[in-house]
Amino acid sequence: MKKQLVLLLAIGILFISFQSFNPEPPSEGVFPDEISAILKSSCYDCHTAATGSEKSLKALDFEQWDQYRLTKQIGLLGDIGKVVEEGKMPPGKYLEKKPDRKLSEAQKKLLADWTKEEADKLMQAD
Ligand code: HEC
Repeated sequence: MKKQLVLLLAIGILFISFQSFNPEPPSEGVFPDEISAILKSSCYDCHTAATGSEKSLKALDFEQWDQYRLTKQIGLLGDIGKVVEEGKMPPGKYLEKKPDRKLSEAQKKLLADWTKEEADKLMQAD
């Protein structure tokens, strides 16, 4: 009986630590799946707390998305569309190391169109 309890506890702790090693940004539910997938592979390395730098997080932290004010979200959506369309993000240096993270033209268009739609939606909600 006692052994079972210890085992149960150990599983519980393992489960909890596993979850904290794999933080799922809350934005998951906010962004559509196909957008989330693109951001995850090409942006989250720098723009989520686990692997991002102070500088990149200050500019944009996807895990804080829900906490941003509406006006900030709208502004960031505009910035995201811009940096993606201009090819500024992901940064060239990063792509030298991880060329598979480069956005295809289709992905860029998808992201840029979505930022516009989403910004329009948020502006109407305001
Ligand atoms: C290698 C790390 C890295 C990756 C990957 C990355 N960023 Fe950034 N990003 C930064 C840093 C650092 C800054 C802040 C300084 C700067 O502007 O260069 C930044 C700034 C930004 C800004 C603020 C606007 C601006 O012009 O400063 C936006 C918006 C942004 N990133 C969006 C994205 C998006 C969208 C992706 C994925 C398509 C992405 N970033 C991928 C490092 C990264």
